[in-house]
Amino acid sequence: MAQAQRRVLVVNGPNLNLLGSREPGVYGADTYDDLVALCRRSGAAHGVEVEVMQSNHEGVLVDAIQAAADTADAIVINPAAYTHTSVAVADALRAVGLPVVEVHLSNVHAREAFRHHSYVSPHAVAVFAGAGISGYRYAIDLLADRLCAD
Ligand code: DQA
Repeated sequence: MAQAQRRVLVVNGPNLNLLGSREPGVYGADTYDDLVALCRRSGAAHGVEVEVMQSNHEGVLVDAIQAAADTADAIVINPAAYTHTSVAVADALRAVGLPVVEVHLSNVHAREAFRHHSYVSPHAVAVFAGAGISGYRYAIDLLADRLCAD
């Protein structure tokens, strides 16, 4: 029997809607629309359906992660500043139990000390940091390989 189409939810946290104009020396010149288009293309290359969302609100991110339990097979997440502060986002990821890949546009480990800690990384199968929006492509490649092998 043919396998059901796999679905990946891409979750983006606060201020990522400003990509392109926000500190381009740190986050690059690509816009949020470029990021969304890249995610969709990457999914299509694997026959995986990709949904991309962004919110500046912690509770909205938690709701989206919870909803993914019924609508997705895996999650790519750039929690942005909530990476370093949010037990709620990390708990939601743990609660749904889907495979998670964490992405950061910048190399957070080469930046301020407060960016070195992530509440999400312990729940992630992989972390890509410093590759710009290509990190999302690597994350989707990895998850698609993993899901299609299941
Ligand atoms: C970020 C890194 C975070 O420290 C920061 O708060 C962000 C973006 C990144 O993609 O490099 O908003 O997650």
